[in-house]
Amino acid sequence: MSMTYSCGILGLGSSLPEKVLTNYDLEKIVDTSDEWISKRTGISQRRVLDEDKPAYQLGVDAAKKALDDAGIEAEELDLIIVTTETPDYLTPSMSCIIQSKIGAQKAAAFDLNAACSGFIYGMTIANQFIKSGYYKHVLVVGCEGLSKIVDWKDRNTCVLFGDGAGAAVLGPVEEGYGIITTHIGADGVLGKNITMPCCYIGPEDIQVRSGDNKKVLWMDGSEVFKFAVRIMEQATNKVLEDSGLSMEDIKLIVPHQANIRIIEGAAKRLKVSEDKIFTNLHKYGNISSASIPLGLNEAYREKLISKGDNLVLVGFGGGLTWGSVLVRWSK
Ligand SMILES: CC(C)(COP(=O)(O)OP(=O)(O)OC[C@H]1O[C@@H](n2cnc3c(N)ncnc32)[C@H](O)[C@@H]1OP(=O)(O)O)[C@@H](O)C(=O)NCCC(=O)NCCS
Repeated sequence: MSMTYSCGILGLGSSLPEKVLTNYDLEKIVDTSDEWISKRTGISQRRVLDEDKPAYQLGVDAAKKALDDAGIEAEELDLIIVTTETPDYLTPSMSCIIQSKIGAQKAAAFDLNAACSGFIYGMTIANQFIKSGYYKHVLVVGCEGLSKIVDWKDRNTCVLFGDGAGAAVLGPVEEGYGIITTHIGADGVLGKNITMPCCYIGPEDIQVRSGDNKKVLWMDGSEVFKFAVRIMEQATNKVLEDSGLSMEDIKLIVPHQANIRIIEGAAKRLKVSEDKIFTNLHKYGNISSASIPLGLNEAYREKLISKGDNLVLVGFGGGLTWGSVLVRWSK
């Protein structure tokens, strides 16, 4: 006899570097202004790691807090998925480093790169393992040190990003609660719009337009903007349809935090009032795959969600990729 389980979030945690970089600080680094950044993005400040600090430390801290919140010991974890596009090392993976630092000896561990959609991809995988009964406890950590890869000479990108980590422990929950449905997708044809070279730097395959083929992030902001608004609407509607729910049934949407104008554009298309949408990007900027778990953790700690509430988590990013999850809060 095969059993299936409902998979939900048992605990959440997040971590941020202490150092704050304001828009005014950026005025001293590139030709920009607080007015431009605030108006065009909604971002006022972001957190950045010291140059000599690895990003995984944020992941370790977030993971410990999530375990604590779940009331679970690290030894009880079966799998650790770290979603990141800024691993400190290609090997060992960030997930293996975090596994050793938290003492999760029993857990398998791998990194997953779906850029800013990573956490949604990670939850989707964790859900499958837990639903099937194959694993009981999966830790998903979105952990990013974007300050290490942005081009601090490029005002088009460096004002947008920040560092941080958010973590969730997933496991079996009461039937009818937890993850109701998930949706992930990719369109590699559009990948050339956000590029970050790694082992290979050259003219082939995708156009790396980062100036002098440097190892820095490059982005066509307006192309990504158009894609983001469209896909946020589509991905949100997809999980609503698949779960047979309508927007009225949703308590809160926690979107990827890239640009307030993207969120407003998507909200307008979805005909949803902005008070149903959680935002914190003014404080942190875009932290890629850490932005959704960090936002969810803040909403949870601010008691904006309670048991039985339906939530939509929705994101988009490099790849280009996207994803959405509909969760019925079970805590
Ligand atoms: C990047 C982004 C903020 C730019 O906003 P925009 O309204 O599209 O602005 P544009 O690209 O049209 O640029 C307008 C002008 O502002 C300038 N500009 C860009 N960055 C600037 C900055 N930090 N300060 C001042 N001026 C800036 C541009 O050079 C351009 O000048 P020009 O017209 O003289 O060439 C916006 O496109 C965006 O958020 N895109 C999505 C990015 C994203 O979410 N990426 C992550 C995916 S996970």
